[in-house]
Amino acid sequence: MSEYRLFFPYVKEQLKLYIFGFIGSLFRFLIPLSVPLIIKYIFDHLLQNKGLSYSDKIEELLSIAVIMLVIFLLLRAPMEYARQYFMHKANNNIIKSLRIDAFKKVHSLDAKYFTENKSGEIGTRFFDDIEKIRGFMTAAFSNIWIEIVVLVCVIGVMLTLNIQLTVLAVLLVGFQFLIAHLLSRRLKDSTRNMMNFRSVLSGFIFEKIQGAIIAKLFSSEKRDQKDLHRHLDAYEVLTEKNSRINAIMLSSVNVLSDLTPFVIVLVASLFVIEGRLTLGSLIAFFAYVDKMRSPVAALVQAIPTITEGRVALKRIFDFFNTPQTIKEQENPVELKNFSKEIKFQKVSFSYNKDKKILNNVSFTLEKGKTYAFVGESGGGKSTILQLLTRMYDTNSGEILIDGVNIKEYSLLSLRNHMGIVTQDNFLYSSSVKENLLTAKFDATDFEIISATQKAFAHDFISMLPKGYETEIGERGVKLSGGQKQRVSLARVFLKNPSIIILDEATSALDNESEKLVQSSINSLDNEKTIIMIAHRLTTILHADTIFVVKNGEIIESGNHQSLLSLNGYYKELYTKQAEQNEADKQTNENVRSRKIS
Ligand SMILES: Nc1ncnc2c1ncn2[C@@H]1O[C@H](COP(=O)(O)OP(=O)(O)O)[C@@H](O)[C@H]1O
Ligand SMILES: [Mg+2]
Repeated sequence: MSEYRLFFPYVKEQLKLYIFGFIGSLFRFLIPLSVPLIIKYIFDHLLQNKGLSYSDKIEELLSIAVIMLVIFLLLRAPMEYARQYFMHKANNNIIKSLRIDAFKKVHSLDAKYFTENKSGEIGTRFFDDIEKIRGFMTAAFSNIWIEIVVLVCVIGVMLTLNIQLTVLAVLLVGFQFLIAHLLSRRLKDSTRNMMNFRSVLSGFIFEKIQGAIIAKLFSSEKRDQKDLHRHLDAYEVLTEKNSRINAIMLSSVNVLSDLTPFVIVLVASLFVIEGRLTLGSLIAFFAYVDKMRSPVAALVQAIPTITEGRVALKRIFDFFNTPQTIKEQENPVELKNFSKEIKFQKVSFSYNKDKKILNNVSFTLEKGKTYAFVGESGGGKSTILQLLTRMYDTNSGEILIDGVNIKEYSLLSLRNHMGIVTQDNFLYSSSVKENLLTAKFDATDFEIISATQKAFAHDFISMLPKGYETEIGERGVKLSGGQKQRVSLARVFLKNPSIIILDEATSALDNESEKLVQSSINSLDNEKTIIMIAHRLTTILHADTIFVVKNGEIIESGNHQSLLSLNGYYKELYTKQAEQNEADKQTNENVRSRKIS
């Protein structure tokens, strides 16, 4: 029931439109409903009335025709229009609100959610599920209620004609509902399984589309196709079960529904023979039994749609209710100026319970200085930055900025102070300029160009076919890795935050460009606090303090010289890289001299 309760506020917002539509529907259905009564009147009071003269009969018939014409033309058509228009409008409004809320929800979900759920699966909420809700609303609000009202009215009128026959008809119809009800529970389970699987399927397909090029490179198309077959076969089993339940339900109900008028006519004829029922009443009654069939059929046929909609509602609201752990406090503090320091105090963290990633990490970063984190990959360097940007919260310990726990700041103001460039940066498929503008919506061309110049991106951007207006393809596929990194760097320079975070941000650049970009970073005004993670130690030698991270702990810290003199792990790393560089140089020279000789 709870999914209906959660859905109610959406419906309530559109109540006015629904009421208009509902009034329209009533007329639309009640007008045809009066027809059998008029027929009875014609039969019993006109045709079989010996007291009326020929001209009286013709006159009365004509006036009935005129009244009917007026009702049908002047009332029914506008009412039908109102019903269709207002109901659709209300449904569309609800769909729109649901999509807006779903999108908001996407933005408020924790980073963790996206590591555990595929984007295709999340996407089904927007399309598949929400469209199913449209079907549900059309059935529930435009049709079902009306059908129920019609059914009640029909039964009411029938009661005035003959009580015993009405009871018989109601019993026969009730039996049909009983069958439908008993089967609908099974239908709900199978529909839920089917829809959950459909979202898995769409996650699978979406991912394989994104990976289509990898599939080519590894010639794994056949395997992917086999996987798809496996998924589709499993889906087929579910849909078949669903179809079977539907078929059983509809076939048994339809047979009963076909049988009903026949039974009624037999019994009613008996009543006519006994003189307990007029012929006109029999004909009217028969017409009403026939009118009963269509709401009953509509109600039964709506069951699968309603069931799907109900499951879709549940899926949507389960999604809306996904708990959010990274959130603001009741009255968040605005981080206006970052003025002093960032402090990690005995921070421990794990992504999952089974493995501790950071263990008791403490350090202080002062404003305006440059820091570096180095160490083997997997040591936890990037994780430190995930915590600082509050993508995740610490398990224990605190992170303070200017003496205040970062959990107390508003997320917006906290993240506004930080700009991050990583190894693999997400770019939108739109133009270079649009991508840059995500950092600052109102940036002038001058600001944009000075940012791209700092990132040594202006030259290559200018040479793209349409310059800054060039569309760069999904996730920036039309750019090289180094170009993407430079655009991402420019994006951060444009944002101009007080804390700049570079997580292997120049890894895809060649040595020459890396040096240029580094010099650019070094020349940033000394108000900026720079946090770098770099695999190539040569790029971080100048940092004020270098933290050496190993297995989730900071084992050494200091500047380059002092770390070397420690003769510890840093020295080991540095010597290893220096030897490697030397060896590479040697190989290059050997190759060159071999070519010459
Ligand atoms: N989203 C995640 N979920 C679970 N484990 C993760 C996640 N991100 C990283 N890890 C794990 O955390 C450890 C540290 O990763 P990371 O901080 O990225 O290391 P580094 O940046 O030093 O190479 C690794 O063992 C990695 O497997
Ligand atoms: Mg990393």
